[in-house]
Amino acid sequence: MNPVAIISKKRDGGRLAAEEIGQFMEGFVRGEVPEYQMSALAMAIYFRGMDAAETAALVDVMLRSGATLQWPAGFGTLVDKHSTGGIGDKTSLVIAPLLACCGLKVPMISGRGLGATGGTLDKLESIPGFRTNLTSEEIRAVVEKVGCVITGATADLVPADRKLYALRDVSGTVPSIPLICASIMSKKLAENLNALVLDVKWGSGAFMRKQEDARTLAQAMVDTGARMGVKTTALLTDMNQPHGRMAGNAVEINESVATLEGRGPNDLVGLCVALAAELLVSAGVEQSPVAAGDRLLGLVRSGAALEKFREMVDAQGGDLDEERHVAPASEVTAHAPGYVAAMNVEQLGFAIIELGGGRKKLGDTLDFSTGLEMLVRLGDRVEEGQPLVRVFAHHTKAESARAMVAEAITISDEPVKSPPLIVERIEAR
Ligand code: URA
Repeated sequence: MNPVAIISKKRDGGRLAAEEIGQFMEGFVRGEVPEYQMSALAMAIYFRGMDAAETAALVDVMLRSGATLQWPAGFGTLVDKHSTGGIGDKTSLVIAPLLACCGLKVPMISGRGLGATGGTLDKLESIPGFRTNLTSEEIRAVVEKVGCVITGATADLVPADRKLYALRDVSGTVPSIPLICASIMSKKLAENLNALVLDVKWGSGAFMRKQEDARTLAQAMVDTGARMGVKTTALLTDMNQPHGRMAGNAVEINESVATLEGRGPNDLVGLCVALAAELLVSAGVEQSPVAAGDRLLGLVRSGAALEKFREMVDAQGGDLDEERHVAPASEVTAHAPGYVAAMNVEQLGFAIIELGGGRKKLGDTLDFSTGLEMLVRLGDRVEEGQPLVRVFAHHTKAESARAMVAEAITISDEPVKSPPLIVERIEAR
C-alpha cells in the first residue's frame, strides 16, 4: 500500500477500491500512516466525495477498528436515535426513557458539543453526580435494569473515528457527507442495534446548511444502516431556529423534565413523538405512527416517562432532585416592530459558548448554569421593546452575549411564514 498513490488518486477524482480504503485506514489506526497523510486524504474526500461503495468500505473498516457492544441472547429489541446536532436539541433526553417504557432497549452512546452545537453528555452532567463514562459492563447492566442508558463512547469503541474526527476537527474537513456518514454510522452500528432513527438537520444551526445536502446525508446513512441489517429511517428537520424554548445545559434538563411531565413546548413534543414513533413501528411494537404517538403521549400523561428518566439518572449516579443552578436572567428586546424573519442559530450557539455553556477548546470546563430561553419563534409578530430572548448569564458576560443574540435575530416589516419542523422522511432505497 502506497499512501501517496491513494491520496493522489482521490485528489484527481478517482474511485478508491475497498482494499485501498481498508489498508489506508488500518495503517492510520495502527499509527503507520501519519496524521498529515490522513488529513490530506480527508481533504481530498472533502472535495471529491465518495460513492456508495467507497462510503460502505469506509464504514466497514471504521466499525472493525474496535470493539462493539455485545448483548446476551434474548436481551430484547435494541434501538437508538441519533441527531446530527443543533441548538436546544434535547430529544435524546425525552426519547430514551419513552422507548424504554415501551419495553425496548436503548443503549444511547452520545457526544459532547461540536462546533456551535450542544452535546447531550454536557447537558446530562449538569445533573449533580451523573456519570457519562460508563464501561461496557456498566452500559449492559443499566440497559438490563432500566431499559435505557445515555453515556459516552468507551475507549475501545470505534477508535478510528476518535482519531479521524480529531484530525477533521482541526483540518476543516468535518462537513463532508461521506466522512460524516462513516463517523456516525460506524458508532451507531457498534451498538449492535435492531433499529435506528436518524434526525438529520438542515439550516443555520446545523452542519448541513442546505436541505438537499441534509437529504443526501440522510439517504447515505439510511442506506448504510439497511445494508448492515439495521432497520433505519430518517427525518429531515429544520434547524433554522432552536428546538423548544431552552438552549444551554441545566436549562435544557429542566425543559426535558417539563416535557416528560407533559408541559413541553409543542415543537419539541411533536419531534420527540415523531422520532420515537419511527422506532416503535420499525421495531414492530406498534403498527402505525398514530398508534405509536397515542401510546407515547399516554406514557407522559401517566408519569411513567418521567419515572423512567429518574430511574436512568439514579442508575448513572445522578440526583435529579438536587438543585441545578440557573444564572441570573436578562432580556434581549425587539429594536422595532415587525415579524421574526430569520435567526442565525449558529450565532446563538456561539453566544452560549461565550457564556461558558460550551467549549472553545478541548478540556474547557463548562458553566452549566448559563443559556438562552427563546421567547419568540420564526414568523411571530413582535412589537418594539418586546422581549425576544432571555439570557441566563453571570454579570461580566451578560452584555456581550445579549449583543450577539440581538445580532442573530432579524426582524422584517413583511409577514413571514413559520417553517415546518419535520420536512421529509427518508427510507432505504
Ligand atoms: N457527528 C459525528 O459523530 N461525526 C461527524 O462527523 C459529524 C457529526
